[in-house]
Amino acid sequence: MPTFSVPDLQALSLQILNAAGVPTADAEIVAKELAEANAVGHDSHGVMRLMQYMQMIDDGFVRLGAKVETVRSGGSFTILDANFNFGQVAANLAVERGVELARNVGTATVMIRNCNHVGRLGSYSKKAAEQGCTTTMAVNAPGPGGVAPFGGIERKLGTNPISMSAPWRNSSLVLDMTTSASAEGKVRVALQKGDQVPEGWIIDVEGNPTTDPQKFYDGGALLPLGGPLGFKGSGMSMMIDVFSGMLSGSGICRTDLPRGANGVWMYFVDVKQFIDRAEYDALMETYVESLKSCRRLPGVEEILLPGEIELRRDAQRRAEGVSIPDETWRQINELADRLGADLSDFND
Ligand SMILES: NC(=O)c1ccc[n+]([C@@H]2O[C@H](COP(=O)([O-])OP(=O)(O)OC[C@H]3O[C@@H](n4cnc5c(N)ncnc54)[C@H](O)[C@@H]3O)[C@@H](O)[C@H]2O)c1
Repeated sequence: MPTFSVPDLQALSLQILNAAGVPTADAEIVAKELAEANAVGHDSHGVMRLMQYMQMIDDGFVRLGAKVETVRSGGSFTILDANFNFGQVAANLAVERGVELARNVGTATVMIRNCNHVGRLGSYSKKAAEQGCTTTMAVNAPGPGGVAPFGGIERKLGTNPISMSAPWRNSSLVLDMTTSASAEGKVRVALQKGDQVPEGWIIDVEGNPTTDPQKFYDGGALLPLGGPLGFKGSGMSMMIDVFSGMLSGSGICRTDLPRGANGVWMYFVDVKQFIDRAEYDALMETYVESLKSCRRLPGVEEILLPGEIELRRDAQRRAEGVSIPDETWRQINELADRLGADLSDFND
């Protein structure tokens, strides 16, 4: 597998997006989000998405350069319409607006409707936490997504992810998770690598458990998070449809959309307006110390906090580079050839 530095992943993504006609300012945002997803170890949301995004442009689903507009706002809330531009463009703007609003009035709610795929939610909640806000962010897919509700065998729910963040030292705690057993992208990574997926992730079209990722793409479904307690993931996913889909105006149960058009809900709390920041930091240290000192099962070296794995992978991958599966790299080169993007600098 070829290995790339994180800046190279960003640069090659930018070349492809530019060649596809994405306005430079938007292309820079998308390329950065993709490369950073690879950096923190979520390859399912990294440069592998370039092929999918190009297909979405070809299908007219991503509307290049569309202006993200404010459709409604009140004292502590704003609803944005992404107008089907890249989700990364709208979500970055939503963080800016949310942090600014929360600084003014203490808390802020920002919704986005008609939003394309935003990528990794933790990227946005982390940015807000690093500016002093605890943040909750959830995304719904308004159409029949890839996930069966608990007890069902049909795709009715999206992977409806949620991220929660909190300032911690000079960084943040970042929980970032799907409400399904896995992100769809991880099933795609397994397919591209020729691997099986773990048991409990997917069922085939008849509802039989399977570990063959192809069976998902043949009409099967992802299972909700929680295995035998899957009603918890399933229930959370349904509530995210209400919060992110219904309230944003992006919708639910839409059959007019082939894909995407996510609804986004973000909620920001400016920590220092609720508790003295020095007191908060001291509480956080006490809490982390309490968790880290927990007695552990044999073989468990450390109790990890939300987002810690990503922080460590980020440091490691920025030092050692990111390996991209051969099939993904082949597809990226094929795409570059089609668009006339020159990737010779990245091919030895
Ligand atoms: N944009 C979208 O529509 C969309 C849809 C689905 C998923 N996603 C993204 O997919 C990514 C992957 O989601 P996922 O649910 O597969 O993530 P995951 O299962 O890898 O991690 C979930 C959370 O658990 C934490 N974690 C992981 N291992 C841990 C351990 N051993 N101990 C303690 N904490 C641990 C992580 O820090 C993370 O906060 C996320 O970034 C998510 O935002 C995006």
